[in-house]
Amino acid sequence: MRSEPFGRLDATSKTREKVLRLCRLAPGEIWQDAKAGHRIGVLDARREEDVKRLLGKALSSLGIHDPPYNIDVGGRRTSAFFRGGIEAYMEFSRAWLQNACAALDTDASLYIWLGADQKAGFQPLPQFMLLAHEFPCLASRSFITLRNQRGYGTQKNWMALRQELLYYTKGSPAFQAVYTKIPKTVKGYYKEAGGKKTCTQERSRAATLRPGNVWTDIQQVFYRLEENVPGAYAQKPLAAIERIILASGAKGCLITDFFAHSGTTLLAAEKLGRTCYTMDTDPVFAELTLRRLEHYRATGKTGWQTRSPFPEIE
Ligand SMILES: C[S@@+](CC[C@H](N)C(=O)[O-])C[C@H]1O[C@@H](n2cnc3c(N)ncnc32)[C@H](O)[C@@H]1O
Repeated sequence: MRSEPFGRLDATSKTREKVLRLCRLAPGEIWQDAKAGHRIGVLDARREEDVKRLLGKALSSLGIHDPPYNIDVGGRRTSAFFRGGIEAYMEFSRAWLQNACAALDTDASLYIWLGADQKAGFQPLPQFMLLAHEFPCLASRSFITLRNQRGYGTQKNWMALRQELLYYTKGSPAFQAVYTKIPKTVKGYYKEAGGKKTCTQERSRAATLRPGNVWTDIQQVFYRLEENVPGAYAQKPLAAIERIILASGAKGCLITDFFAHSGTTLLAAEKLGRTCYTMDTDPVFAELTLRRLEHYRATGKTGWQTRSPFPEIE
């Protein structure tokens, strides 16, 4: 039994050619949502004019960006998931990061998903961290690791489960503490305050743990989950993006995501009543992002699991 209706849509295939004919947005075009104000563009994050057109006069108080990592995704290189020399990758990163910073409001948060290739000196993570030093408006705040629940296995090395997430701030944005669903099990640690001796449980604000900067409680997306978007090979879990928004994206804020792919950031924004402006260079992923939003509004479902987002070509 096939787990998904077709393979990844960034790689050349007959399915991709058929999907391209269904794409409503051509390169350079921007869709404007009449209901919640979202925008989806087929635009290039490296181009200042593209970002300016997406933003208009607006500024974003939360950027959540997930660029390609200069690492072969699923053992393949495509135009969406390119891999080249580190110099070319840093040129790409500098260009989009410059635009991402220009899009930020005076007080804003910036989250960047990134990878480290353990077979190539852990590039591009350290180079990217140093690149951020070129942007004095950015202050480093946290280096988060999401534990992917399904890594590729090997008996000859530690299994690779890490997904890195860098958190920077500009100015002084608010931060709202969030909690996991993991109950606090360690009791004890008595402390005296105001003449009263209390234990940890009595003093704590919640019965569950905070995620800290190592997130172990979020399931990686795979075909058994409702949120799965067939054809999108690099989608992030909705729960991770929702966590970021709840911590750093107050109600009414504008969220930007320059690398839409399966549209996870836009969908999380929709679910939580925020507005998102997003883009992808590939019209196929702009169309998938738009369809995912429409599908959610029509059915309440966050993805298609193993069904096709393009039933016209089944
Ligand atoms: C790692 S994926 C993003 C995954 C996304 N967070 C999700 O949950 O689905 C990166 C995406 O960036 C897009 N992309 C690559 N270069 C781009 C560029 N210069 N401007 C905008 N999008 C680009 C690719 O087409 C791909 O869909």
